[in-house]
Amino acid sequence: MIGRSREGPIRRNTTYSLHKSRIAIAIAIGISFGCVFAFLFPHGIFTSASQNISKSNAQVVPTPCKTSERLKMLKAEFVAASDENAELKKQVRELTEKVRLAEQGKDHARQQVLVLGEQHKAGPFGTVKGLRTNPTVLPDESLNPRLVRILEKVAVQREVIVAVANSNVKETLQVWFTSIKRVAITNYVVVALDDKIAQFCESNDVPVYRRDPDELIDSIGKTGGNHAVSGLKFRILREFVLLGYSVLLSDIDIVYLQNPFNFLYRDSDVESMTDGHNNMTAYGFDDVFDEPAMGWARYAHTMRIWVYNSGFFYIRPTMPSIELLDRVAARLSRENAWDQAVFNEELFFPSHPGYDGLHASRRTMDFYLFMNSKVLFKTVRKDANLSKLKPVIIHVNYHPDKLPRMQAVVEFYVHGKQDALEHFPDGSDW
Ligand SMILES: *[C@@H]1O[C@H](CO)[C@@H](O)[C@H](O)[C@H]1NC(C)=O
Ligand SMILES: *[C@@H]1O[C@H](CO)[C@@H](O)[C@H](O)[C@H]1NC(C)=O
Ligand SMILES: *[C@@H]1O[C@H](CO)[C@@H](O)[C@H](O)[C@H]1NC(C)=O
Repeated sequence: MIGRSREGPIRRNTTYSLHKSRIAIAIAIGISFGCVFAFLFPHGIFTSASQNISKSNAQVVPTPCKTSERLKMLKAEFVAASDENAELKKQVRELTEKVRLAEQGKDHARQQVLVLGEQHKAGPFGTVKGLRTNPTVLPDESLNPRLVRILEKVAVQREVIVAVANSNVKETLQVWFTSIKRVAITNYVVVALDDKIAQFCESNDVPVYRRDPDELIDSIGKTGGNHAVSGLKFRILREFVLLGYSVLLSDIDIVYLQNPFNFLYRDSDVESMTDGHNNMTAYGFDDVFDEPAMGWARYAHTMRIWVYNSGFFYIRPTMPSIELLDRVAARLSRENAWDQAVFNEELFFPSHPGYDGLHASRRTMDFYLFMNSKVLFKTVRKDANLSKLKPVIIHVNYHPDKLPRMQAVVEFYVHGKQDALEHFPDGSDW
């Protein structure tokens, strides 16, 4: 905790101090020469100069030397010249900066007015809060009247659970919607990627939305595995959000034990479950990186947080939210990347040279209520107190044997079968 890097303020002054130190070095060299000559020629090289020695130059030369008068003059000239030079440089710098700020300010001010509308006074100490609940977008229902009709029927207070599925995942989907029906959630819809799964939903009284034929969706939807479908969902989500609905995006390897809408804060653009497994990893911590070779500054502090789970998050219909969906979808169409990594990078990386960060507000869900399967199988099932708590959902995200673990979760939490979770190993054996 001691050796925190303090190079910030030093860096800012380097040009200035570099300049100063050059002068100082020049003076120091001059003085040293002077002292050497004074020692070798105590009466001076130029005798006239030896008659009257000024003792008033202590500020420049700590010990009196015979050449100090001359040095003083030289120094004064040098300083004058470089001051002039510096002054000129400073003026140019200031001008450039003014031009840059004017350009930036124009743009920034315009954006601020767009977002905030008006200026506010800050208010007393301790009462000031930044904006995290962004205004919702103006819905454009003309974009997708068919989806609007479905949502008007299904959504509750303009909120809806959305899952994307193809017929490869039929059994898992069944466990998913059965758990949803069990806790009497009505505002959910399955986005069907093929006709077979659409029919399966309809025959089970599950609200379903079959998208209009779309080349990309059709090719990925029919053949795609898990990851391909994951990338798709960001494009699909956009359709919902543009209509002004808040979406709780849900993978289907999830068992619902309570109604999640009773446990949301709704104060952020994105509210997501975490892949973390305790307070630190879920909510963030200072991970100190140690580099002994740096001595006094051996400790570098880093900010860490386990990723948000892009398989279960609540997203409000705001500009930053839509920007997030677009950024992730755009990157996934260009790069062969894991959608969850991209989702987190876009959410968390700050603006920096050459990059404009997203700046969406975000909230991590309680990891005991919105529980991942690592927390369940590594911690909760072995802890007498924790295993008595009733989570809102369990996401079997950490284990490939999804179906049997989901079924065991239902046995344990719904049917009270105390040993239902016992025979599974903590992790998978590959
Ligand atoms: C020495 O300098 C002082 C002050 O500058 C001056 O009053 C004095 O006349 C000078 N003496 C000689 C010998 O030049
Ligand atoms: C984790 O955080 C919660 C609330 O933020 C707190 O009540 C709890 O004691 C913490 N647990 C540990 C082990 O620090
Ligand atoms: C469970 O809670 C009780 C009461 O708060 C406490 O005494 C006990 O140590 C806890 N057990 C575990 C395993 O944490």
